[in-house]
Amino acid sequence: MSLLSATLIPIFFASAQSAPPPTPGAGMAPYKPKNLKVLPENTDLRKIMHQYTGDLGAECEFCHTMPDPVTKHPDFASDAVRRKDKVRYMIRMTNDLNDKYLTQLPDRDQDDPISCGTCHRGEKRPSVFVAPQRQEGNRQPGAPPMATPSASTPTHPATN
Ligand code: HEC
Ligand code: HEC
Repeated sequence: MSLLSATLIPIFFASAQSAPPPTPGAGMAPYKPKNLKVLPENTDLRKIMHQYTGDLGAECEFCHTMPDPVTKHPDFASDAVRRKDKVRYMIRMTNDLNDKYLTQLPDRDQDDPISCGTCHRGEKRPSVFVAPQRQEGNRQPGAPPMATPSASTPTHPATN
């Protein structure tokens, strides 16, 4: 490992264990990424990588190599963890959803971008959504609504 990365990677690692972030301009040169294929060079890696860990409920090592037993630092530039390429696809997909699709949405109500967490909700792999059962569900067309204790206060006014 080069002297450069040996000195700079602890910045990421320390913050992963919620140590106070180093003061900007405190003598540390900015980390120069070596293997970005999707994210722009000037990405705030600290911010975005912590967003990933939060959005997926995962540690850095879910996508990066285990820390080297001698240096104690993961090799963040390494592509040895194959999942990293899947994540690159996810990053492109999320960018496309925002840049190609939502920007074109007619009468868009909400400016919030889609993030990893929109789908992942703190899970490494998004679970399948199962809609809660509705009281009036599965009614035959034309059949009267089922009698329920709350029938006097209908929440779904008839639409046809
Ligand atoms: C969900 C997967 C995922 C998690 C979790 C994750 N990363 Fe990453 N990380 C990536 C991907 C993918 C790239 C490469 C992006 C690209 O190719 O543009 C990357 C790149 C990096 C880089 C740049 C390496 C280089 O020199 O090219 C650093 C540094 C980094 N991550 C640190 C971290 C740290 C620290 C954590 C934990 C706080 C973390 N990552 C958590 C997926 C992840
Ligand atoms: C539109 C919904 C959606 C968004 C947005 C999204 N994902 Fe995913 N993600 C999925 C689905 C669905 C899967 C399961 C894919 C499969 O079958 O392998 C998945 C799988 C993954 C996996 C593989 C998990 C495993 O078990 O190996 C990772 C890692 C991941 N996503 C990271 C990300 C990151 C990081 C982002 C944001 C840059 C992101 N995802 C954005 C839907 C999404």
